[in-house]
Amino acid sequence: MEQRAVLVTGGCGFIGSHFVRYLLRERSWRVVNLDKLTYAADLARLSDVTSDPRYQFVRGDVTDAELVGELFRRERPWAVINFAAESHVDRSILDPAPFLETNVRGVYTLLEAARRHQVERFLQVSTDEVYGDVEGLPPRVEEDPLQPSSPYAASKASADLLCLAYRRTYGLPTLIARSSNNYGPYQHPEKLIPLAIRNLLKGDAVPVYGDGRQVRDWLFVEDNCRALLEVLERGRVGGVYNVATGVRTSNLELLRRICMVLAEELAADPNSFLSRMEFVRDRPGHDRAYAVSVERIRNELGWRPSVDLQEGLRRTVRWFIGNRAWLERTADDSYRAYYEAVYVQQWGMP
Ligand code: NAD
Ligand code: TYD
Repeated sequence: MEQRAVLVTGGCGFIGSHFVRYLLRERSWRVVNLDKLTYAADLARLSDVTSDPRYQFVRGDVTDAELVGELFRRERPWAVINFAAESHVDRSILDPAPFLETNVRGVYTLLEAARRHQVERFLQVSTDEVYGDVEGLPPRVEEDPLQPSSPYAASKASADLLCLAYRRTYGLPTLIARSSNNYGPYQHPEKLIPLAIRNLLKGDAVPVYGDGRQVRDWLFVEDNCRALLEVLERGRVGGVYNVATGVRTSNLELLRRICMVLAEELAADPNSFLSRMEFVRDRPGHDRAYAVSVERIRNELGWRPSVDLQEGLRRTVRWFIGNRAWLERTADDSYRAYYEAVYVQQWGMP
């Protein structure tokens, strides 16, 4: 019997690549990975699975209706899981255009193809940022209103709404997973944790936006992959699921912990790292806090995170220490231009 195929989009990105590896390990399905290979992608993230006969990489854009349609006709995926996105808030502040293109029009293109080809499951990978700033509010439940702050969050909220509309109007079996901040090996150094590790390893300062008291819920990427597969297979069709640990940490506390783990791993003086925090101009529109309730995924699917922040940071720091060449290769010329725009010219604003 022919093996069932799953279409994973954005599988060369940070979370998508962990998910592709996890899927190939946990299930016997074929995995078709459609990725445009933007600056955020790296084929090296999946170098260990490229020889697996069940894995197929297709370079292409999720907004290309012809290519997407052809892929659905050829591969007849029973399920789609959409990771493909522009994913960094700071870049969305510098230029929202590619965010609207990929995160909204790309989702529309995939939904249309999924509708025509009658997939059994369409899982949209979303974010807790769609709820907006929750400082002073109880953790958000899935029915709470969407009040995105950044162009990135607005584009992801738009995609969620499209998925819900396709469910109601066309009966497409969509599901949505809204996860909190992920971290782990192979994360791009534009994001806070790898950026901090890289700068500390290089002897540079770590830029802390505003007062550093903003709060996030840090989720180890492998725990998220496990949650996503649960939602894909066993989630209620039409359902929305928050995915997070329930533990919230301020940026300053997170950075302190990174310094302590680095010092331990390198047998160095923690103060040589702690002294390198540098308060810089805040991100425009910066959300003070994200916090979501995880009751639903816990009660309906029995999912719980298994890696706590200390353990996750240790694994992450160790990986980056052992893979400094990857980190430096990823921080290429275009990364340096981006870094200059955000941290030196400070958002290109007067
Ligand atoms: P990433 O930026 O590391 O990877 C995105 C991938 O999508 C890249 O491989 C890129 O080449 C691909 N891509 C971009 N535009 C494309 C297009 N038009 N067509 C095809 N491929 C395209 O992102 P990530 O951090 O792995 O996030 C994956 C998903 O999870 C995103 O949808 C993001 O919104 C969501 N998410 C991320 C986090 C996080 O903390 N990183 C948290 C919650 C939700
Ligand atoms: P980030 O990794 O960009 O994720 P998000 O904004 O999607 O939550 O940032 C995490 C937190 O760290 C956020 O509050 C912004 C802050 N931050 C800094 O203080 N300095 C930095 O250089 C970066 C990239 C982020």
